Amino acid sequence: MRVVTDPAAMRALSRRARDRGERIAFVPTMGALHDGHLALMRRAGTRHDRLAVSVFVNPLQFGPREDYRRYPRDARRDAALCRSVGCDWLFLPRARSLYPAGFSTTVSPGPLGARWEGAVRPGHFAGVLTVVLKLLHVVEPDTLILGQKDAQQAALVRAMMRDLDLPGRLDVAPIVREPDGVAMSSRNAYLDAGQRARAAGLPRALRAAAAAARSGERVAARLTAAARGTLRRESRPDGVDYLALVDPKTFAPVRRLDRRSLLIAAIRIGRTRLIDNRFLNPGGRA
Ligand code: PAJ
Repeated sequence: MRVVTDPAAMRALSRRARDRGERIAFVPTMGALHDGHLALMRRAGTRHDRLAVSVFVNPLQFGPREDYRRYPRDARRDAALCRSVGCDWLFLPRARSLYPAGFSTTVSPGPLGARWEGAVRPGHFAGVLTVVLKLLHVVEPDTLILGQKDAQQAALVRAMMRDLDLPGRLDVAPIVREPDGVAMSSRNAYLDAGQRARAAGLPRALRAAAAAARSGERVAARLTAAARGTLRRESRPDGVDYLALVDPKTFAPVRRLDRRSLLIAAIRIGRTRLIDNRFLNPGGRA
């Protein structure tokens, strides 16, 4: 595995590989790697010849009161994990090489970027799309691999690739969960034991709505009420930023579960924000 910090060197490696006819997969991350990240890397699998992984805690996507400074960082462990799943190139750009003095051009996400996560975290998705666009220009992969854990992020990146004529395809991998159902996340490290137990109420709440859908409930308000009841009892959240049934492409709210829809949620436990989502199918094909 090659560790590369210079964007020009990263691009040269990738271009040489493509000139040899190799297919390149790319997994961008912010590090503090867990099995969710590793699943994305394993997914590159046999359909690609090279796997590039980036670890970069992107300052542009954190709000002024968010956790940029205390975001977990463990470069040695991350490198060992990347090597263990067959990563070829570990790209560790420095902030000043991606954001030189005078940096000012960003990607504007459009209306989808202002909903849900975007409403709670103003500027977040502009920061995400800007860094993803830059990383794509550096790595030039055939396939970009993202996780369904951050469903709105994946939808926005898909829209950006379409709208800005980016080459390559996007592959979105399913959510990897802990045994108790909690979606793996670098931020779970912030939770103490009691909070970690409460976190399990979030996936259970989403499952409660799926169960209601299976027994025939189609009214979105009743499905979200089922989820909210379980959430209140089992998570006792310190805040619910949103809990909504949406169209999986546009993230517009849906009133009835007439086709496959996405139940999305963001809650706060203590100072930690947790997000999760689950597809619901009408009449119980979930
Ligand atoms: P990060 O939170 O490190 O996540 C990197 C990728 O791993 C994202 O595509 C995310 O959806 C995926 N992922 C995280 N937890 C997962 C889980 N439990 N199951 C499946 N996939 C999971 O998302 C970011 O970083 C950043 O916004 C980034 C795209 C790197 C831009 O800075």
